[in-house]
Amino acid sequence: MPTRRIVQILADGQPGESVSVAGWVRTRRDSKAGLSFVELNDGSCLSSLQLVVAADLDGWEDSVARVTTGASLCVEGTLKESPGQGQRVELGVERFEVIGEADADTYPLQKKRHSFDFLREIAHLRPRTNTFGAIARVRNALSAAIHRFFQDRGFVYVHTPIITTSDCEGAGEMFQVTTLNVERLAELQTEVDYGQDFFGRPASLTVSGQLEAEIYATSVGDCYTFGPTFRAENSNTSRHLAEFWMVEPEMPFYELNDNMDLAEAFIKSIVGDVLANCSEDMAFFDKRIDDTVLTTLANITDNDFVRLPYTEAVTILEESGREWDYPVEWGKDLQSEHERYLTEEHFGQPVILFDYPRTIKPFYMRCNDDGRTVRAMDVLVPRVGEIIGGSQREERLDVLCERIVECGMEPDDYWWYVDLRRYGSVPHSGFGLGFERMVQLITGMSNIRDCIPFPRTPKSAEF
Ligand code: 4AD
Ligand code: MG
Repeated sequence: MPTRRIVQILADGQPGESVSVAGWVRTRRDSKAGLSFVELNDGSCLSSLQLVVAADLDGWEDSVARVTTGASLCVEGTLKESPGQGQRVELGVERFEVIGEADADTYPLQKKRHSFDFLREIAHLRPRTNTFGAIARVRNALSAAIHRFFQDRGFVYVHTPIITTSDCEGAGEMFQVTTLNVERLAELQTEVDYGQDFFGRPASLTVSGQLEAEIYATSVGDCYTFGPTFRAENSNTSRHLAEFWMVEPEMPFYELNDNMDLAEAFIKSIVGDVLANCSEDMAFFDKRIDDTVLTTLANITDNDFVRLPYTEAVTILEESGREWDYPVEWGKDLQSEHERYLTEEHFGQPVILFDYPRTIKPFYMRCNDDGRTVRAMDVLVPRVGEIIGGSQREERLDVLCERIVECGMEPDDYWWYVDLRRYGSVPHSGFGLGFERMVQLITGMSNIRDCIPFPRTPKSAEF
């Protein structure tokens, strides 16, 4: 008999049907009437399937009696209408096989609620909990929704490199990649000869696939990357990871307004898809994690985003009468507290800020004629703050070269990027969505470390 997933059985299994299922035990309870009730979960959905086993089943002592929370089973039986509430069917078990036992004295996941801090220490077992199973399914649905959004619009998925010799964001927050023997170098106390290193020059893990995406946008047209990115910023916050996934579309012939339109349509589409495809998990997040999740998301899908120049945002913040931990001043980057005030309190909906001071943004953003601002845009959402960062790109050769120098870099180091402005240059734009911040927004989880299976943060890379 082929094994069926529990999500399918609960959706369309009929009383009288014979089925085989396999999964992990959540709980077992024996009744005085001689029945054992086992909650079996196989990860296909939040709900478990109730197994009902009679005490006179052959070999009960050697099988059912040994089963505790965490054990794995394969069982066969006949579906019955469930008298209990919440479930349509349960399984009357006729064959019960224990695949792997789980020692009740040491198995860390017991029926009580565990703190997320504790679960992070057992990241190899936490996906067996309701919360982390649901997050895994939402991440999966969100990835599929992202690809669908772009594929439906004819965007080409481009695989940009993980190892790079350029610093896209110019922030110097890169993890170095080397095959040099650093212990030996430390012993010798000599200068490092990168000619001896694997690539013959310093190399790092990428912070963004944008520069390479621009190459493909100006050849195959609308395209996107979706891959891991790495930042060695030492920020121990609930919104920063050292390794995170980023979605970066790049479009030729797009100016900043087109870019904002796409970003808004993109967020609305993928949020709507997850709401439609993960209704059971989303109801769980709203009930157990944050009871504002569904209203926040409905507000995002149903209303226009606010669009506001950075300069006006600074005025709003200055006139808010708030005491800020970080003072607000034109020319300074906005902090999370400012972003959240704007989107959560002042406007109560997503906000796209644009035209930021050039001094706080990277070299590639298009300069405005005012000489002070660039065509940058950040999308801010409630609880998370900045979820998207993007811009129109500088397509003018001379202006780009001046900006590279102004940012303390060498145009020659970016010769291939500069070349795109030399041969058939066009206006173009793009943005980057932080994938885990999107998972955070959708699930209501308060810490980004719980939105990726195996978080990498300062001093932490266990699993
Ligand atoms: O604003 P950022 O730095 O923009 C770029 O990297 C551009 N090259 C994107 C582009 O235009 N193609 O990062 C984009 C997004 C942020 O808005 C945020 O959501 C997320 O990436 N992000 C992080 N997420 C988790 N941990 C971190 N340390 C992050 N840094 C940025
Ligand atoms: Mg940014």
